Amino acid sequence: MCGIIGVTGRASAVDDILSGLRRLEYRGYDSSGVVAVTSDRLGVVKRSGKLDRLSEALGTDVLTGSTGIGHTRWATHGAPTDDNAHPHLDPTGRVAVVHNGIIENYRLLRAELDGAAFASETDTEVVAHLVARELDAVDGPDLLEAVRRVLGRLEGAYALCVLSADEPDTIVVARQQAPLIVAAIDGVGLCASDVAALIEYTDTCAALLDGQIARVRPGSYEVFDRNGDPAQAEEFTVDWDLSAAEKQGYEHFMLKEIHEQPIAVAETLLGRDDGAGRIVLDELRIDPAELARIDKVFILAAGTSLHAGMAGKIAIEHWAGIPVEVEVASEFRYRDPIVTDRTLVIAISQSGETIDTIAAADHARAQGAPVVAISNVVGSTLTRSADAVLYTRAGPEIAVASTKAFTTQIVACLVLALYLAQRKDRAFASEVSDVLARLDELPGLIRRVVEDDTAIRAAAERFKDVGYTMFIGRHAGLPIAYEGALKLKEVSYLHAEAFPAGEMKHGPIALIEPGSLVVAVAHDGHVFSKMVSNIQEVRARGASVLAIGTESSRAALEAHADVVITVPDAPHELATPVLTVLPLQLYAYYVAVLRGADVDQPRNLAKTVTVE
Ligand code: AGP
Repeated sequence: MCGIIGVTGRASAVDDILSGLRRLEYRGYDSSGVVAVTSDRLGVVKRSGKLDRLSEALGTDVLTGSTGIGHTRWATHGAPTDDNAHPHLDPTGRVAVVHNGIIENYRLLRAELDGAAFASETDTEVVAHLVARELDAVDGPDLLEAVRRVLGRLEGAYALCVLSADEPDTIVVARQQAPLIVAAIDGVGLCASDVAALIEYTDTCAALLDGQIARVRPGSYEVFDRNGDPAQAEEFTVDWDLSAAEKQGYEHFMLKEIHEQPIAVAETLLGRDDGAGRIVLDELRIDPAELARIDKVFILAAGTSLHAGMAGKIAIEHWAGIPVEVEVASEFRYRDPIVTDRTLVIAISQSGETIDTIAAADHARAQGAPVVAISNVVGSTLTRSADAVLYTRAGPEIAVASTKAFTTQIVACLVLALYLAQRKDRAFASEVSDVLARLDELPGLIRRVVEDDTAIRAAAERFKDVGYTMFIGRHAGLPIAYEGALKLKEVSYLHAEAFPAGEMKHGPIALIEPGSLVVAVAHDGHVFSKMVSNIQEVRARGASVLAIGTESSRAALEAHADVVITVPDAPHELATPVLTVLPLQLYAYYVAVLRGADVDQPRNLAKTVTVE
C-alpha cells in the first residue's frame, strides 16, 4: 500500500506535496519522491528511506512550480532503493507517474517495450513509457486521452497520478481497485490516496470509482469513464480530525487493518501465476531442480506468524506431500535439528526483522538448507538474506496486534504449497489454476464477515469480564484456536490459552467448571463431528461455549453451543483459517475496547521484536 498525492495551482506545489506525504506516511515509508513541472520540464527528487531524507534533499535540490505529484512507497516489486522510488519517468523525462497498487501484467508490457531503457525494477515505470509513447503518436492525443488508452492495456490494481511537461497545469488520475480521491478549491486542484492528505485544505472530496479517470486542473476536476465519456465520482464530506483521517475514520489501526484484509488478500494473490497455471515467486534464487529434491520442510516463525505456519504445514503436506515441522524460531537453533541440503526452510515474518526468526533461518542456512521468506516488508533483513521471497502485500501493519499480515501469510503459504507441489510434479497447471481461482473468492467472503460484526460485538459484551478463556480446535481450526488466544490475551490482558481439542481429556478439561468459557473453532470439515463431541464434553461440565463455525455447520453448532458465530464456507477447506480467524480478531478487538485497553499499543509489547 503506498501514498500518492497531486497538487496543481499552488505557488509552491512541492511544499504542499511534502506536507501531504507526511500525512500519508502511515501507508508506506520505505522510500518517497516528488516531481514538479518547473518552467517546461519535470524536476524530480526521490530518496529511499524515511520522508525526512526526501525533505532534506529538497532543501538543496529545490523544486519550484505550481503543479506536482508525490509518492511514499510500500514496496511490492523491487527493493526500496532511490531508483525504485517513485515518481517514475519515461526515458525522455517528459512524463512522470506515481502509483499505488500492482500492474499484474507489467512483465509482458516491459517485454513489448523491448530496447527501452528502464531505470528501475518496478512495475510502475512501464506506465510512464507507455503514456509517452501514446503522446508521441501521430494523432497527438492530449494527456487525458493518452492515459486513457494506456489504461486499457493494464491488468491489476492501480491508483495513478500522471504528469506531462507538455501540459504543465494538468494532472491526470485513474483508479482501479486502489483508492483515489480528487478535490478542487479556489484555484487549486488536488488528488490523493485518501483524505488524510487533503483534510487540511478541504472537507469535501470525490472518490473515483473503479475504471474512472479524471483530469485535475487549478480549481477544477472533470471525471470520465473508461470510454472517455463524462462520469460522476462519489462526493463525500468528512468531519474527521487528522488522527482519524490516518485511521480512515476507524477508532484504532487494529480495526482499520482488520477491514483492510479483503484488499490485502486480493493483492497478495495478484500475479501469483504466469497466466498458464505456473506459480511465480518473487526474487526466486533457488534452482527448481533443487526444490524438486526437497524431502523435509521446517517452518520457522514467532507469535502470529508461527500460527500462520501451522496452517501452512497442513497445506504443504496435503499438496506437496513433504513432511513439515513447524518450529518456534527461538527454540530451533538451540536444539540439534536435522538439517540437510534437501531440507527447505520457510521463514515467516511480517516485519522481516524478528531476530529469533532471522537467527533460526541463518542457523539452518549454515547447514546447507535453502530459505524461502514469507514477509510483508520488501528489503527487510530476512528477505535480503533469503534465497527466495514470497511477499505478503498487506501494506504497513501499524497495530502491534497482527491481523492482515496473518491472513495474507496463510494465503502465501497456500500459494507456496502449490508451488512446491508443482516442483515435485504433484500438482498440474490445471489444478493450480483451479485452486487460485477459488482463492480469488476470499476477498469478497472476508468482506462479508468483517462488515457484519453485530453478533461478534454482542459476544464481546457478554464475555468481556471472563478472566480465563480456553480456545480449542482441530486440523485447520487448531492454528486459529492458537491465534484467537494470542489475540485476546495481547490486546485485552485477559488470560487465554489454546489446546488441540483432542488433548482436552488428557488434562486441560480439569480446568472446566460451571462458568468456564470455551471458544471452539469448528468449521464444517472432516473433524467437525469430533469438535461437536468436545463441545458436548465441556458443556456437560458447565462451560459456556462460543463456537466459531462455517455456514454449513451452523445448525449442528446451535444445538450444542451457547453462542454460534459463522463465516461463509471457504472455497477450499485449507483456506478456512483465513475466514474463521476474522471473528476472533474482531472479538479480541471489541473485548479490549470494552475493557479500555490500549488497543494499538498494548503494554509490554512492540510491533517488531529485534532483540532475543
Ligand atoms: C502478533 O499479534 C504479535 N504482534 C507478535 O506475536 C508477532 O506476530 C511476532 O512478534 C512475530 O512478528 P513478525 O511476524 O514480524 O516476525
